[in-house]
Amino acid sequence: MSRMEELVEQLNRYAYHYYVLDNPLISDGQYDKLYDELAALEKAENIVLPSSPTRRIGGEPVREFAEHKHLHKLYSLDKRNSFEELSAWDEKIKKAAEREVEYTLEYKLDGLTLCLTYEDGFFRCASTRGNGTVGEDVTAQVSTVKSIPLEIPFKGVLEVQGEGIMRLSALREYNKTAKEPLKNARNGVAGAIRNLDPKVTAQRKLDIIFYNVNYKRGGDGKLLSSQSECIEFLRANRFKTEMLFCSENMSEIIDKINAVDKNRLDFLIDGMVVKVNDFALRDKLGYTDKFPRWAMAYKFEAEEAVTKLKDVVWQVGRTGKLTPLGKLEPVELCGATIQKATLNNYGDIRRKGIKIGATVFIRRSNDVIPEILGIAEELDGKDVPVPETCPACGAELYENGAHIFCPNEYGCKPQVCGRIEHFCSKGCMDIDGVSDKTIERLYDTLGVRSVTDLYFLDEEGLSKIDGFKEKKISNFLASVENSKQVKLGNFINALGIPNVGRKTAEDLAESFKSIDALAAADAQSLLEIDEVGEIVAGSIVAFFEKHGEIVERFKNLGINPRFEERNVGGVFDGLKVVLTGKISMPRDAAAKIIEERGGKVQSAVTQDTDLVIAGEDAGSKLEKARKLGVKIIDDNEFKSLINS
Ligand code: IVH
Repeated sequence: MSRMEELVEQLNRYAYHYYVLDNPLISDGQYDKLYDELAALEKAENIVLPSSPTRRIGGEPVREFAEHKHLHKLYSLDKRNSFEELSAWDEKIKKAAEREVEYTLEYKLDGLTLCLTYEDGFFRCASTRGNGTVGEDVTAQVSTVKSIPLEIPFKGVLEVQGEGIMRLSALREYNKTAKEPLKNARNGVAGAIRNLDPKVTAQRKLDIIFYNVNYKRGGDGKLLSSQSECIEFLRANRFKTEMLFCSENMSEIIDKINAVDKNRLDFLIDGMVVKVNDFALRDKLGYTDKFPRWAMAYKFEAEEAVTKLKDVVWQVGRTGKLTPLGKLEPVELCGATIQKATLNNYGDIRRKGIKIGATVFIRRSNDVIPEILGIAEELDGKDVPVPETCPACGAELYENGAHIFCPNEYGCKPQVCGRIEHFCSKGCMDIDGVSDKTIERLYDTLGVRSVTDLYFLDEEGLSKIDGFKEKKISNFLASVENSKQVKLGNFINALGIPNVGRKTAEDLAESFKSIDALAAADAQSLLEIDEVGEIVAGSIVAFFEKHGEIVERFKNLGINPRFEERNVGGVFDGLKVVLTGKISMPRDAAAKIIEERGGKVQSAVTQDTDLVIAGEDAGSKLEKARKLGVKIIDDNEFKSLINS
């Protein structure tokens, strides 16, 4: 018995140093040897001490989670989304306190709230938050968490609150061999704790970080008087904590929040928590129904969310390509309510196993519409049907690669309207006052069917369109007239040639200098332009073969794309320049400055690159430039060059 007690004490101490302090005292081999000795003794004597580490392996599966009533209500946190709002909260607190107030700053851990009860120094039970008063008993699951103490110095009754997390390193390790990889760490922990089989929980290698003493009676009999003392008490009782900072100055707190780089942490956080440090002041401030008035979460913008996919609809774009769009149960993401998300194409749906009715992960991407990443939970999901006919015009569809297309170029309304919208947009003909709604009305009411029809619109016709009053009509007609003096690059862009975007359109204008020359170009001469490859060249040739007459039609309308030689004599005159790394202005702006001063911006370093502008953290492009002996300048030299 005394050897067993000794082993339990030793093993728990070693585990504490290893899992909580991150400072191992012995090797894994030595630990395993002692552990095996204890396990053998327990088997022989048929006794397992209450804080024996062998209790952590996860016992038999439970049939259901029993209810657990918390000794004291578990509150949630109120939240603010901006520093102005956080400062306003600080002002309110200071006013109520009638003095300066000290705050603590902690991470807002993004996991699962857990509440652990200890009696007479031993771990007794663990529960989820539930509705704050009653949670579910998850003692068997939480027992598998190696970093929680099974025995503590405090001998009274104690309920402590913390966040169950799965470390990102543990998630990566788990996913290396998992049959079903976990989508993210939050799901990793929630699924593990709410799994009836503790052996599954044990495999996830969870951790719990503690931030609150929810109830304390007896033991040392001391009252905690501040959050700092509370954290100290938790540490002294071997719980893992993560308190960051203490200050009376909200702007210092805000600086500290700004300095947090959440990408460097090994766990997920979705914000920071600011708490009044002094418990006497906390008592004075009290609680609302759900929240303490003395604590506030500052929420980072969410980048990922989970919601239900209600339906998938197919949208037809200006090129006839069908894009699936997921209709979602509304969910908050990046400060907006999101109801739709893109799925790219049918291949994407199949690869991600997307089902209608399933719960899906969505993530903010650079685009306005978020993307559906994959399935979180598949309830009674049903397959997404592949359309055979166009949802807009009923034409039979065809597949090309991973995409589905409608062939009805001239008779399919969204294709026609999409082309007109693109034609009118900035960087193309720049015709003002035409929203997608207006274009639809021009289509429905005035029978506009092609971009050239825009040049035949008159006052009388336009007055039939909703929202077109005298002023708007004259502005619109003036804008259409002005567009006839379009720049060549914009005009090429406006044609909507597949695979030709704004940048390529500019390059084409620069090389061919007139629309006739471009329309007559063969693939060979197109390929001579840097950045034009086989696909783009093929697209251009095919476009003019099919739509050759359009150039004539535009000319007859008086549209006369003009080409202006770029200013010569700038500091980058004739130079091919590559930008890489972080520079002190947006890339677009830098590229514009270089081009205005006679240079040409390339995306990759090649034999004929003349100059590389390398900002901070430049990587492979800088290396390649060094190898090829290309001239390299840094951000400061770039700035002095453009100011010279
Ligand atoms: S304090 C009365 N501190 O965030 C004390 N909560 O959105 C209330 N959370 O329910 C909680 N990190 O699960 C507190 N450092 C932290 C926290 C934290 C994460 C969780 C907690 C709470 C939820 C509110």
